[in-house]
Amino acid sequence: MAYNLLKGKKGIIFGALNSASIAWKVAEKAHEEGAEFVLTNTEVAMRMGDTHELAKQTNSLVIPADATSLEDLENLIQKTMAHFGGQIDFILHSIGMSPNVRKKLPYDALNYDYFLKTLDVSALSFHKVIQTAKKFDAVKEWGSIVALSYVAAQRTLFEYNDMAEAKATLESIARSFGYIYGREKHVRINTISQSPTMTTAGSGVKGINSLIDFTERMSPLGNASADECADYCITLFSDLTKKVTMQNLFHDGGFSSMGMSYRAMQMYNKSLDCKRCDDKECCDDCI
Ligand SMILES: NC(=O)c1ccc[n+]([C@@H]2O[C@H](COP(=O)([O-])OP(=O)(O)OC[C@H]3O[C@@H](n4cnc5c(N)ncnc54)[C@H](O)[C@@H]3O)[C@@H](O)[C@H]2O)c1
Repeated sequence: MAYNLLKGKKGIIFGALNSASIAWKVAEKAHEEGAEFVLTNTEVAMRMGDTHELAKQTNSLVIPADATSLEDLENLIQKTMAHFGGQIDFILHSIGMSPNVRKKLPYDALNYDYFLKTLDVSALSFHKVIQTAKKFDAVKEWGSIVALSYVAAQRTLFEYNDMAEAKATLESIARSFGYIYGREKHVRINTISQSPTMTTAGSGVKGINSLIDFTERMSPLGNASADECADYCITLFSDLTKKVTMQNLFHDGGFSSMGMSYRAMQMYNKSLDCKRCDDKECCDDCI
């Protein structure tokens, strides 16, 4: 159900690769809520993915940009402003990539050139996007900028690797730039820390299926889906959240506040060797 929350608003959405992408869902919902936006991704992602299909579906302009390139970002911001005839209201940064994860290098044998690439693509690009937008005074007063993060910024999770450092930096950029952009232009900047989600980037995380099962069992409300994440993004782009800034907002069904749940404990007990008989599949009462 649409509420017209973004009627008349204009924005830029980074990172819609295919229909599983969180940014894809945000674009669909933003369109339903009355927004107009530019879709952007790297040239390679445009060729491999379905961004142009989404553009048709949402009547959007596509402008390619590598979010690590200031030249590309300047081109993107200037063309977007020309397209809309002025300033925009919101930006979604939905970008993540680690060459160390892709090449399956463990955390204690990282390639440092790859590490720098991880940080550049997944964190510094957020700073570059905001700095470029500010340079061209692209965002209206009370505009909203959102990036997507993960709880590995605060807690250690098996095999999340150097993306943990990237997410910690990303969240810090939201605070540091949120102060400056808020003070000067009333632009708000937040990160949303989303549940593990089965997307192209998500499926690169080792053991993602087990992780999704574990967090589902640990979270009182269950994992948050990509669609639900999109709903949350829409509220942050809307005028209903004008005084929310410099926050990392957990959107994870309660996972980040849990230590152990009954459902996870049950599963853990089931996996223990039975103390009374040789049957490992035997019932909970036996343990
Ligand atoms: N999937 C999850 O489990 C999960 C959980 C929490 C947070 N997140 C975050 O959500 C965001 C979106 O990821 P997703 O899960 O929708 O996966 P996705 O693979 O659909 O999206 C990642 C996007 O990043 C883009 N990208 C990579 N390098 C880029 C560059 N140099 N310039 C511009 N774009 C570039 C890709 O082309 C892709 O569109 C990421 O920041 C990710 O870390 C994902």
